[in-house]
Amino acid sequence: MDLSQVVRRLCSGKVRPHRGGSSPFYVLPPRGICEDSLFPGCTMTDWSPASWRSKPALQQPSYPSPSELEAALAELSRMPPLVSPWEADELRTQLAQAAEGRRFLLEGGDCAERFADCDPAIITDKLRILLQMSLVLVHGASKPVIRVGRFAGQYAKPRTEELETRNGITLPSYRGDLVNRPGFTPEDRTPDPQLLLRAHGRAALTLNYVRSLVKGGFADLHHPEYWEMDWIARSPLAADYRRILQSVSEALSFLENVLGIRAGELQSVDFFTAHEALHLSYEQTQTRQDPRTGAWYDLSAHFPWIGMRTSDPDGAHVEFFRGISNPIALKVGPTMTPETLQRLLDILHPHNQPGRLTLIHRFGVNRIEQCLPPLIEAVRASGKTVLWCSDPMHGNTRLTEQGLKTRRFEDILGELVRAFEIHAALGSHLGGVHFELTGENVTECIGGARGLSEQDLHRAYKSEVDPRLNGEQALEMAMLIARKMAALNRRQT
Ligand code: PEP
Ligand code: CO
Repeated sequence: MDLSQVVRRLCSGKVRPHRGGSSPFYVLPPRGICEDSLFPGCTMTDWSPASWRSKPALQQPSYPSPSELEAALAELSRMPPLVSPWEADELRTQLAQAAEGRRFLLEGGDCAERFADCDPAIITDKLRILLQMSLVLVHGASKPVIRVGRFAGQYAKPRTEELETRNGITLPSYRGDLVNRPGFTPEDRTPDPQLLLRAHGRAALTLNYVRSLVKGGFADLHHPEYWEMDWIARSPLAADYRRILQSVSEALSFLENVLGIRAGELQSVDFFTAHEALHLSYEQTQTRQDPRTGAWYDLSAHFPWIGMRTSDPDGAHVEFFRGISNPIALKVGPTMTPETLQRLLDILHPHNQPGRLTLIHRFGVNRIEQCLPPLIEAVRASGKTVLWCSDPMHGNTRLTEQGLKTRRFEDILGELVRAFEIHAALGSHLGGVHFELTGENVTECIGGARGLSEQDLHRAYKSEVDPRLNGEQALEMAMLIARKMAALNRRQT
């Protein structure tokens, strides 16, 4: 690739004057009132942050002491929320551009974030791997990348089984650090309302640290050496990664030294947060009205999503989400029918507001070809625009003979490649990817350039819930997707 191509890919219309380091996080939006129904919740007379309580709510823990729960929720309702409405609005604008094909969404992080992950080294490694992946994607995809972390609040997990039995003893399942503890004792597994307060605190600490790293220059694309991780030097991917760094750094120098342009977006990138908004009474405490517009936002994260198990159009989660003004995502799996999806579009996306709804599909490599096309057609028939994103992790989970959950690199890549091709063949496009990954050197998924096998899984298997790509596998995945996107771009031009 020559330098001019790299410059074009880095900028793709997004070069803007350097803004002296100011970040949209700290810029107050213009004041105004919510005049129309584009902001959900503000003009709805039949919705409130508590209206979900009149609908069936799946996957909610039952606490032994309702009064302790109420006390914890009351305290949370008085605390500052974690993010602001204008950050959520900024993300919505960027997601709208991704839906038009002008940006690409990279979403990633743990399946279940742990309180113990609120550790500077672990947080820094998570940022590093997302930054490295996004750099590779910017380079391959010809467009700016939106970075969203499954972090600073991804503490609640849906469980297929309410209860777990070991050696004849049955206890409630572990539902994430927001609810209970993974140890197998009655004390550990009893839902504890104090964990709600601790989760809010840990999420705030994590986000505070992310913001300070980003603001302090850690995410500056002029200094990708800050993101170098130990394993890169010993990795089979090292040469390819260095080539991409070299090409990005030459493009930056060309922009700045030859054209005299400061690439603002490359100087200081944004990070947004996402989690499954599963525990509705917790989410309700963070749901606040923007005094400027009257619109309601769930300010526990910028980009909450509805999980596959709680996407019933008549259920409590859909009721809660229909009234919040955040950009939202909905997971869609093999059981989603075109009819149900159309009902969900009516409820969650009635005004076709740009950037409002992302559909994250997760079928598995063997089912995507059968399941995805009817849903693409259903969205087209509705006349609405959504951002399509692929989660190639959750449909590809399998158990080893020893009973460990794992995923094969080739299945994950296989589902992604098919997702790109199916969308392209149907005149739609895949605008984002959603991974479970960590910067740590875990051995939870099989395959990748280092050829991890089932025998390697016991070495560093840390996840309490789903298996994650490790840093090296995640970067390799980004390189392979970047190659796929570059090939699709060539086909289209
Ligand atoms: C998840 O993202 O961790 C998850 C549980 O996903 P899904 O709802 O798609 O199964
Ligand atoms: Co998961």
